[in-house]
This record gives sequence, structure tokens and C-alpha cells, in this order.
Amino acid sequence: METRAISATVARFLLESKKLLINGEWMESSSSDLLPVMNPATGERLTYIAAGNEEDVDRAVAAARAALEKGDWKKMTPMDRSKLLWKIADLIDLHADELAELETLDNGKPISISRNGDVKASSNVFRYYAGWPTKIVGETNPVSNGNYLNYTVREPVGVVGQIIPWNYPLMMAAWKLAPALAVGATVILKPAEQTSLTAIRLGELLIEAGVPAGVVNIVTGTGKKAGAAIANHPRIDKVAFTGSTEVGRHIMQAGAVNIKRTSLELGGKSPNIIFADADLEAASLGASEGVFYNMGQDCTAGSRVFVQRQVYEQVLERIVQYAENLRVGNGLDPLTDIGPIVSEEQVERISSYVEIGLEEGATLMSGGKRVTDGVLKHGHFIQPTVFANARNDSRIAQEEIFGPFVSVIPFDDAEEVISLANDSIYGLGAGIWTRDIGRAHSMAKSIKSGMIWINSYGAVDPASPFGGYKMSGYGREMGAYAIDLYTETKTVWVKMD
Ligand code: NAI
Ligand code: MG
Repeated sequence: METRAISATVARFLLESKKLLINGEWMESSSSDLLPVMNPATGERLTYIAAGNEEDVDRAVAAARAALEKGDWKKMTPMDRSKLLWKIADLIDLHADELAELETLDNGKPISISRNGDVKASSNVFRYYAGWPTKIVGETNPVSNGNYLNYTVREPVGVVGQIIPWNYPLMMAAWKLAPALAVGATVILKPAEQTSLTAIRLGELLIEAGVPAGVVNIVTGTGKKAGAAIANHPRIDKVAFTGSTEVGRHIMQAGAVNIKRTSLELGGKSPNIIFADADLEAASLGASEGVFYNMGQDCTAGSRVFVQRQVYEQVLERIVQYAENLRVGNGLDPLTDIGPIVSEEQVERISSYVEIGLEEGATLMSGGKRVTDGVLKHGHFIQPTVFANARNDSRIAQEEIFGPFVSVIPFDDAEEVISLANDSIYGLGAGIWTRDIGRAHSMAKSIKSGMIWINSYGAVDPASPFGGYKMSGYGREMGAYAIDLYTETKTVWVKMD
């Protein structure tokens, strides 16, 4: 197998162990503890990151609070914040190849996804929010209880903790940071311990762009230490979290200490529903891409594919075909479709669901085995997996697996598939494939999820709200919604007589 050699720039970045960014400076953890960073494709150690702790988070919070309350950031005009965000976007684009390579080394994802998906989406979100600082407005309100001028102003929510996962490391950092910076908040960002490298490199670019000291602090480390310290900190005003539902619950509980604002983007078990009248080629492709993209490590992965019975076999065959044509390999190889799973823990979790599916009596149509031959033997690879005839109430159709693993389930009519699709603790995304426009819209109305895609699957854009119903979390990112997430509304009453 051919893989590109690591570029000199990236090799230089990896040479020294990575530090925490606190108050504009790179520093070691107070404990000097380090965590190894592994390449999931080879099992090799890439470098070390600092293992941040409570004391480090404390220092970061002090820096963020000082930056919020006085100094350059507070004085910066909205127009200058716009320019700063635009400059960050330009710097991401300028370093796109380097960031993509680093992402693939750290996370494993195919280089084409890193370069054309994650990195582009990251600069786009900064560019989108660059337009916002000059457009965050209040209102004047027609009150009736006296001669008052009543108006509102939007103020930054304060010091924000942002805890992000490993599936889209740079992109999640961008989604979180861009709106927070647009409103003038200050941040302590904690990347996932498995994949902190691109967030650290982004931190360097933020400094280069001119983000004042203390505005963005990056504390790497484990969820148990650094993450929990953020969730529990009494001087952090808001926590924005993306990750598992289990940890989301901890974040809510910890937030009770000081009535923190919290927003949660959690798991999903999204239905992708194909009616017999759909363009079956497009629908089968959309269903396949909708679950295998990014090795299925995607909160919106369409991991339950419902197919109307009269076309069930046909669609199933196409999905199996698609899965079998996917090339498993090192993400640096441009021919790779399916890179390694992020960690040994995750690949074991996916494997365990293959066993569960078999025990539950679903039919394994394709994949399900770990790939251990040749140069892949030290990495975390698994074949794309397709189960047929899974019951919607089985564990493989109810629990988030977060891998290249799909359950294909037959249904007879719209009423049945609505109840099956909604029979889930989650409600993040849903796909609907049909040529009947009335049915498309009435399905969109009936499905309980935050995002619906009709005759397509998984599109995301900074202008379009993103988030879930039910146990997929609450709060919406993107668009004006993220401005709401990171601001408070202040009402002012002025007596006029
Ligand atoms: P996780 O939820 O533990 O990790 C996400 C982030 O939370 C990481 O930065 C982690 O360090 C942090 N964290 C962990 N424990 C914490 C705590 N007690 N307090 C504060 N922060 C904490 O996810 P994990 O364990 O890596 O993956 C397990 C499963 O979670 C996956 O199989 C998948 O089902 C789901 N997941 C969902 C994601 C999504 O985008 N919705 C992303 C990653 C995982
Ligand atoms: Mg965890």
C-alpha cells in the first residue's frame, strides 16, 4: 500500500510534545503529565499532549475572565471582531493541506474527507460568523405600564467551556469557537484526548491572527480530569458540549452547581427512509454514504435504513454492493474510502455489536470482521458492516454504535415507518426518499428530529440550524441560533418623565 510520507511541516509540529494554551502562552500542565497521541492507522505514537487538570482549568478560567472583563477584547469594535474572524478563516485555508494531513494522522479519516470536508467546513464557519458581530442587535419594546423607553441589548454569556469529540476534531473546534468569538465571549476549549492536534494547531493560528491573550484557552486532557473540571467550574458561565449522551448527562448535572447555561449535541440513531417510488439508485447511494461517511463516526449517521418492502431486496443489494466496494486502508492513501476507527476502544465496541446483531437474529449481509492483514495489522480497522432484517426494537437498531455499521429494516406503509422511525430515544437527523412531494412534507412533519433531509442526506451549512430532539440534546448550533447560545439578553427600562 502506498501512503504519502509525512510532510516536513507536520513532522516539525510533532517533534515536541504539545502544550496547553493559557493566557496567550503555551505552557505545560501544572502536573507536567503527558498523554500519548496515537496514529489509529499504524498504532504508532505521533507525539504527546499535556494532560490538563483542575489547576490548569483554574488558570485558564482566570485568564478568560480577565480577557472578558477588561483589555483589548472588551474594547474591540464589532467590525474589528469581524476582520479577526475572517483572518482566522484565511489562515485555515492557507494551512489547509497541513491541517488535513494532521487530522488524518491523528483521527485516521481519509485525507479527502479531511481536506475537502473538515478543513473547508472549518474555514467556512469562521467566515460565516465573521459577518455576525455587526448584526447582533437588540429591540425596543412597546411596553404599556408607564412612560418608559424599554430596550434590550445582547451581551456575551461570559466565560464559555467548550468540550468537543474526536470524530470531527478541527471542525468541532471551529463550530464552537466561531460564534463564541463573534459575540465577544471568552473560551476554554477542551479537545478530545484522542484527537487534540488540529485544535492545538488552530490555537497557533488564532494567535497569529491576533486573538488577544486569554480569549481562547486550550486545555487538553482527559474527560475525567480536564473535562470534568470545566463542567464543574463555578466561574464558567456556559458549557457547550458535543459527545456521548452519557457524558451529556454529567455535564447537565455538573452545571447545576452554578446554574450554568448548557447546550448539548449528543448521539443519534437516525432513520433514512426509502419509499418504493424514490429514485432507487440515488436513494441507495444516499443511504450508503449517509452511514459510511467518516467510517460512520458521525452523530447524524443514518444508521437505520428503512426500505419499503416491495423494493427492499433491490435496495439492500445496492447497499451491500456499495459496502463491498469500499477500500479499507490508511487514510493518507488517496485511494482509501474507509480509514481506521479512531481507537481500539471504539473498534472493540463496534465488533461487540456485530456479535449482538448475530445473537439477535439479524442477517449479516456483509463485513463485520476486523481487518488485520499486512500493513493494517497494527491499526484499528473494521470492514463496513451491513445487517438485514434487523428488528427496530433490537439493540443494533436502538443503540448508537458509531461505526461503519448499518441495519436495514423493511416497512410496509408510511404510518408504520413513522412509528418505527420515532421509536428511538434519539432524534437528531432523518432522511426521506420519495418522489411524492405531499408525502415528503408530511413525513418531514411527522418525524421527531432536529434535521430532515429530503431526497438527500446529511447536508450541513453554517447558515442552517444544527441540533437534536429528545436525547440527542438541546440547543441549536449554526446560524442565528448559535448567537443565542452565547449571548444573554439584558432589558433596560428608562423612565421618560
Ligand atoms: P465522550 O462523550 O466520552 O467524549 C466526548 C468529549 O467529552 C471528550 O472531549 C471527552 O474528553 C469529554 N468527556 C468525557 N468524560 C467527561 C466528563 N466526565 N466530563 C466532561 N467531559 C468529559 O465520548 P467517547 O467516550 O469518546 O465515545 C463514546 C461514544 O459516544 C461513541 O461510541 C459515540 O456513540 C458517542 N459519541 C458521540 C459523538 C457525537 O458527535 N454525538 C462524538 C463522540 C462520541
Ligand atoms: Mg467517554
